[in-house]
Amino acid sequence: MSETPKFKVTIDNISIEVAPGTTILNAARMIGGEVAPPAMCYYSKLKDSGGKCRTCLCEVSKGSEKDPRPMPKLVASCRTTVMDGMEVKNITSPKVADARKGVVEFLLLNHPLDCPVCDQAGECNLQDLSYEHGSEGTRYEFDRRKFEKEDIGPYISLHMTRCIMCFRCVYAANQLTETREHGILERGDHAQIGTFLNKALHSEFIGNVIDVCPVGALTDKTFRFKNRVWFTKPVDAHRDCPTCSGKARLWMRGEEVFRVTARKDQWGEVEEWICNDCRFHKKETKDWVIEGPTNVKRNSVIAQGHYAGTVGTKKPQVLIDKVIGKQPKFLMEIHNVSDVNSKNIDLSKIEGPAHSDDFKKK
Ligand code: SF4
Ligand code: FES
Repeated sequence: MSETPKFKVTIDNISIEVAPGTTILNAARMIGGEVAPPAMCYYSKLKDSGGKCRTCLCEVSKGSEKDPRPMPKLVASCRTTVMDGMEVKNITSPKVADARKGVVEFLLLNHPLDCPVCDQAGECNLQDLSYEHGSEGTRYEFDRRKFEKEDIGPYISLHMTRCIMCFRCVYAANQLTETREHGILERGDHAQIGTFLNKALHSEFIGNVIDVCPVGALTDKTFRFKNRVWFTKPVDAHRDCPTCSGKARLWMRGEEVFRVTARKDQWGEVEEWICNDCRFHKKETKDWVIEGPTNVKRNSVIAQGHYAGTVGTKKPQVLIDKVIGKQPKFLMEIHNVSDVNSKNIDLSKIEGPAHSDDFKKK
């Protein structure tokens, strides 16, 4: 049988061969590192997701080998499939940087500055995106949207003001549960996530909407205000569950299990869905077989400072030298200008977060 031909696509100067039908975003994820555009609505495990938030915009500087004309506008990389010979710019495009800044400003128009009191802080995609692409101020002069508080049941808390209308929770409920009890009501700037006549959400897999929500609009009521995620230690654990795979992540402090979530991959996506029983009711270490510290693969506040040495951390892939074709030039060697940084300790060469032992080395 003849092999399916592959398409060659070059993203930020790095080439890769992918199967026809692959989206630019997934081709970029295959390359990895900073080349992969951020995604607030696309979710590889949810059919039809993507195309809503525009954070994944990229510039197609060459359409294909056959038709090398650039695409006139930036494209949503999660919805645009590659062509043979296509050339794409993500981090190398000033237009993309500018557009992404605009998208972040737009997403923040109605988003409250709740980070200090929001349970999602520290693992919020919008927080990370604003940090990387946002501006300090807003040009918006109007009142932010307000909503009537809706109680959607004992386990999930809905903060509609934080929602960015990514539709992920709607797709998750549609595709994981037998009866979807919530959706997007109203239109335009009145659009909101809600249930019909304040119904509670019941399905035994509905807790997964918490994990797919990129912001703090849907949070775990059983964990609400109990701890900041960066003070808790993620460990992988499993149990013999009759409903789901039972493979979960426990967020612990000492011996106490503060929160149970599904395990997430380096793109922040759930690896295997878990049931409500595992998530909301199994909050004791004796309920679980602990496998060991989670390997945190995303550059985030959670990746910092949890474990000493190499345990539980994996440095995110850095491809900047391949993207720009040379090693970046250091503008300043910190060891030469600061007495605080001892000459024989180079933090960039230490695997994982630095530990006090590193500073004792001669
Ligand atoms: S509640 Fe969360 S997952 Fe649902 S649409 Fe809003 S931001 Fe997306
Ligand atoms: S991730 Fe592509 S439009 Fe949202």
